[in-house]
Amino acid sequence: MKHRAYTIRMAEYERMEELSDSQITLVKEAIGAARNAYAPYSGCHVGAAVMLDNGKIITGNNQENAAYPSGLCAERVAIFYAGSQYPGVPARSIAIAAMRDGNIQEQPVTPCGGCRQVLFEKESHGGVPLEVILYGTRKIQVLRQAGDLLPLPFSLQQEA
Ligand code: THU
Repeated sequence: MKHRAYTIRMAEYERMEELSDSQITLVKEAIGAARNAYAPYSGCHVGAAVMLDNGKIITGNNQENAAYPSGLCAERVAIFYAGSQYPGVPARSIAIAAMRDGNIQEQPVTPCGGCRQVLFEKESHGGVPLEVILYGTRKIQVLRQAGDLLPLPFSLQQEA
């Protein structure tokens, strides 16, 4: 029997200006995407912007539906669209922001479990770390890799 511990490290910032230029660009794209979300049921408008290894930025936002489970989160809209347009191109970074009543949330928005699984697989398939930027106007959290968001992810590959 052995014990295993799981630790995640993240950087926390108070203002967007503390981020790098490319991180700021991505956050602004995520905010722009949130403005175009289709979220008439929850009123929670989420935007995601993904920087691919080829320099392209892909954005997505949550798309809801009267048949609630048919809707999709912003992160998955962006990641799946990136995969459909640029198959096999790794994702390097993703920024996520959420808005209510036209205001960007103060606290960072954290991806749901299903999106964490999708981010994890995008990262493993790409073979390079996928940075995650969780944006809030009063706090920004940056994780070095998407896998840090999801301990014990589902995977068909066996690990020791
Ligand atoms: N949502 C996202 O777009 N991303 C997440 O990580 C969590 C939740 C959306 C789904 C739904 O349209 C709304 O936010 C409220 O849950």
